[in-house]
Amino acid sequence: MPDLEIDRVSKRYGNVVALDEVSFTVRAGELFGFVGSNGAGKTTTMRIALGVLAADGGEVRFGGTPVTHETRTRIGYMPEERGLYPKMKVLPQLVYLAELHGMSTGEAHRSAENWIARLGLTERRLDEVQKLSLGNQQRVQLAAALVHDPAVLVLDEPFSGLDPIAVDVMSDVLREKAANGVPVVFSSHQLDLVERLCDRIGIIRSGRLVANGTVGELTAGANAQLVVQAPAAYPGWAKQIPGVRVLGEDQSGTVLELESDVDDQTVLRAALATGPVREFRRRRPTLTELFRHVVTGGEK
Ligand SMILES: Nc1ncnc2c1ncn2[C@@H]1O[C@H](COP(=O)(O)OP(=O)(O)O)[C@@H](O)[C@H]1O
Ligand SMILES: [Mg+2]
Repeated sequence: MPDLEIDRVSKRYGNVVALDEVSFTVRAGELFGFVGSNGAGKTTTMRIALGVLAADGGEVRFGGTPVTHETRTRIGYMPEERGLYPKMKVLPQLVYLAELHGMSTGEAHRSAENWIARLGLTERRLDEVQKLSLGNQQRVQLAAALVHDPAVLVLDEPFSGLDPIAVDVMSDVLREKAANGVPVVFSSHQLDLVERLCDRIGIIRSGRLVANGTVGELTAGANAQLVVQAPAAYPGWAKQIPGVRVLGEDQSGTVLELESDVDDQTVLRAALATGPVREFRRRRPTLTELFRHVVTGGEK
């Protein structure tokens, strides 16, 4: 199965550098999370990957060859602005879109019915799209991206506005697609979701890719963190320990960040000095913490 490669892609809008040599590869069978603040360049990258927007420089390749009009029909795309015909009914719309991508009428029907059932839209299949709830419209949008059995999936904010059940359905479908060997890339603001779902993550900031790797790789260089539960401890007990920063403190425990040369046994002794210690463990930083760090460029 082929990879999707974004290779040194650049784009300007007048004086605004929207993308500055952005490169990353979404491997076959991989779920890749693309995260960044508003205006960072996610949508621009995805539109260039699909070929609906031309880059000023760089190249997008699928299976080693530049994306062309023919390969483009093999991409399943969910645009940020969404792109359904509001007055068309769900089933005929999906059949139409599948046919547009080259499926026979019979295949298109089977595929549309399959995704309608899979995404919980059976009772809505003959409703006009504009009469559906936003969450259901989004399910139809996902079905539209999937109905022609694409070889690559590029989804711009597919989770935004979904209720928790629809989030689970979307997550399952994306995982399943990746497990079948399809490269899947999606953008999102929901970092907990990205951390849970994705094999690898790219973080974009002001048009530059500032991090790219697995969560483990991205957090490997970060300072160690400790979770300490010392129920008898007074608030702020850890504040005076040199090289230790208190990230959070509540009934369930205290989260500490240690500078690299701090011995965790010093922290343990300080904790024991307050009374019993029920929990004492290291953890890695969350993607949210990592994201704050890289998008502020370590300024804070
Ligand atoms: N059609 C356009 N004309 C001018 N500037 C644009 C256009 N589309 C995007 N931009 C600018 O390019 C940058 C990246 O935007 P975008 O890719 O939409 O970011 P994101 O999807 O991460 O929020 C922003 O500064 C945005 O204002
Ligand atoms: Mg966007």
